[in-house]
Amino acid sequence: MFTDKLAPSILAADYANFETELKRIDASGSEYVHIDIMDGHFVPNISFGADVVASMRPHSKLVFDCHLMVSNPEQYIESFARAGADIMTIHVEATPHIHGALQKIKAAGMKAGVVLNPGTPVASITHVLELVDQVLIMTVNPGFGGQAFIPEMLEKIEEIAKLREQKGLAFDIEVDGGIDDQTIALTKKAGANVFVAGSYVFKGDVAKRVATLREALNG
Ligand code: DX5
Ligand code: ZN
Repeated sequence: MFTDKLAPSILAADYANFETELKRIDASGSEYVHIDIMDGHFVPNISFGADVVASMRPHSKLVFDCHLMVSNPEQYIESFARAGADIMTIHVEATPHIHGALQKIKAAGMKAGVVLNPGTPVASITHVLELVDQVLIMTVNPGFGGQAFIPEMLEKIEEIAKLREQKGLAFDIEVDGGIDDQTIALTKKAGANVFVAGSYVFKGDVAKRVATLREALNG
């Protein structure tokens, strides 16, 4: 039921060549392109916004998995829908109105995701789980690529997977941060099925690295 999906993060790609980088991701057989949006406020780094996503859209048929590390994400829902985002995932820590914001994402025609920072408990999203298509468990602190995987997050993945089963829900569980050919298998075992990888994929030959991740998943 929960099929594995690989989501290379364009944050680790060459920003002057998005078209080429998107083609490399397409050719690797990945399911998603993970697109990290940072506002320099919610996280101490700036990446790019909806207009850049709109420019990327004609160059890829893959699912655009947009991860918004921004304060008050509700103000960007319309612009991301127009830009061609398929999934819009927002941080529970970034808005006092998480329930309403998720409703608005769905009303705008996108899939809705909610994301937890490493220090944020699963209990903070218990009452919005019925609304979401995806729960993203951060396995590093958001803001930068290339950080080390936080092993304590495996327990959190197990906790959300158990809660999903208890509630009879069907959202995907995504992990993001420090995912490589070793950590990916640990997160799958804990219950994740969508795997974001930035530096691991782009530090080598994209197609080969994605194939290695796939092998690690299939044991
Ligand atoms: C971190 C971002 C990640 C990042 C992951 O804030 O949300 O998506 O690209 O990068 P790696 O895989 O290098 O940890
Ligand atoms: Zn991300």
